[in-house]
Amino acid sequence: MIKKIVKYGDDILREKTKPVKFEEIEPLLPGLLEDMEDTCIAASGAGLAANQIGLAHRLAIILLPPEKKGGKHKRIVIINPEFLEKEGEVFEEEGCLSFPGLYAVAKRYKKVKVRALNEKGVPVDITAEGLLAKALQHEIGHLDGEMFIDYIDPKLKPQLKKALKTLAKQWK
Ligand code: CO
Repeated sequence: MIKKIVKYGDDILREKTKPVKFEEIEPLLPGLLEDMEDTCIAASGAGLAANQIGLAHRLAIILLPPEKKGGKHKRIVIINPEFLEKEGEVFEEEGCLSFPGLYAVAKRYKKVKVRALNEKGVPVDITAEGLLAKALQHEIGHLDGEMFIDYIDPKLKPQLKKALKTLAKQWK
């Protein structure tokens, strides 16, 4: 089921989410993940954090594009994720489903290692560069109450403020 995505300005996006007790959430998890995936696909997103649909759980999904043309995307589920390593830096354009229409270059680590539970409750370590590294930082940021605009060049802040003012009217 497609859920409503919380937009910039809603306080829940600034709150740190709570670690999930896997046994408690397990019965609800298949449905919740399906809803998050449906919602993400419907909005043409690459990832979605639970707080973006109003749930303060420390879990998120990432949808990687299909490896072959016409193939299915790959869904990565991260529950209670934490960074183990971060290194290097990259500057790339980013967007967010909570900021429709806004894109800006954000500074991120080039390579990250993350430990999380997968959807079966099994701890996994994910080492990533490129798109996945960016997505992991973006989604874990959400779970920590951060947003991608926190990672843009401070010099762009006045421009950003202006753009946000205009766009926020459309998001109501
Ligand atoms: Co986002």
